[in-house]
Amino acid sequence: QPLQAGAFLVDKGNHRHFMAKEIAEQPEVVGRTLSHYLDLAAGKVRLPFDLPFDAEKLSRVTISACGTAYYAGLIGRYWIERHARLAVEIDIASEFRYREAPLPAHGLTILVSQSGETADTLAALRYAKAQGQHILSIVNVETSTIARESDTAALTLAGPEIGVASTKAFTCQLAVFAALAIALGRARGVLSEEDEQRLVRELAATPGQMAAALAREAEIEPVARDVARASSVLYLGRGAAYPLALEGALKLKELSYIHAEGYAAGELKHGPIALIDYAMPVIVLAPPDATLEKTVSNLQEVAARGGHLILIGSAAARAAAASELAGFIELPEISSAFAPLVYAIPVQLLAYHAAVFMGKDVDQPRNLAKSVTVE
Ligand code: G6P
Repeated sequence: QPLQAGAFLVDKGNHRHFMAKEIAEQPEVVGRTLSHYLDLAAGKVRLPFDLPFDAEKLSRVTISACGTAYYAGLIGRYWIERHARLAVEIDIASEFRYREAPLPAHGLTILVSQSGETADTLAALRYAKAQGQHILSIVNVETSTIARESDTAALTLAGPEIGVASTKAFTCQLAVFAALAIALGRARGVLSEEDEQRLVRELAATPGQMAAALAREAEIEPVARDVARASSVLYLGRGAAYPLALEGALKLKELSYIHAEGYAAGELKHGPIALIDYAMPVIVLAPPDATLEKTVSNLQEVAARGGHLILIGSAAARAAAASELAGFIELPEISSAFAPLVYAIPVQLLAYHAAVFMGKDVDQPRNLAKSVTVE
């Protein structure tokens, strides 16, 4: 059934579900979003708006959002801290709005929302505004309340997202965070021109790498069937792959109704290791970064206890793991800076195919709403 979403007439094209279409569209919509924020010829970030504050004077960034948009914010925190050397605080909007958190002078608050109408996120915006913060929102709907009430609306050009579980809006939010982190880094004198060019080059390569990840779909499907047999699943990741582990668990939970949890790999010993047995899939996200070795050693701890391991990583990560795996999803060797954009693809496809295999309604999971406009 074609759907009317804003000015767009949306249908599923050749796909079985909106979600499948939206997952497949990601190289294109992330590419489109990036070209809105980057000057590719010059290898520079070119924000489509002026920052309404002096970046050098910024004291702190506060991020707030709900659901998948919150996980995009968690990944954004890693990037803003690393590339702009700015302290970042982040909280889910339903907590943030009531915490009465003191917010510093010269603070920037970033709200992240696909719909721009989520009630808690809007309340978080109003709270931060009342505290004198600069308000920047990363939103997909230009005419939304959150976009309108912000000092600056940074648009994601994902197009209408129909599937209740967010996919392409999420990766477009990551694309905007990446561009913003580089822009802030430059404006604050943290990044040199060469740093900027290198990061922009790496960022501009991600849509192609996402397409390569999508091409692994036939290998992901059998792994998803294996996951579909489980009653509980653990996702592990470190650094910016930790929020992606949380997002993976959320996606699986939402779509397949299988209980799943995301954990920072370094926390394994502080609890979840007690759960390890032959039956519970442990999905390890191992992108190439400075913590890869540590993640691999956590994987080996699971292997030593006879755990049911599924690795998402490169051939190099597979070789380093040197353990028996129940499943391996191989991704191309990529640079580390913005790896979550690429690693999001297998995470989404795993949840999607597990749910389809189980006969669940992936576009309209039970009890969930696309936009939560009441508390
Ligand atoms: C609901 C949706 C999620 C979404 C969240 C936040 O829970 O099902 O997919 O991530 O709301 O929505 P927003 O529109 O603010 O991004």
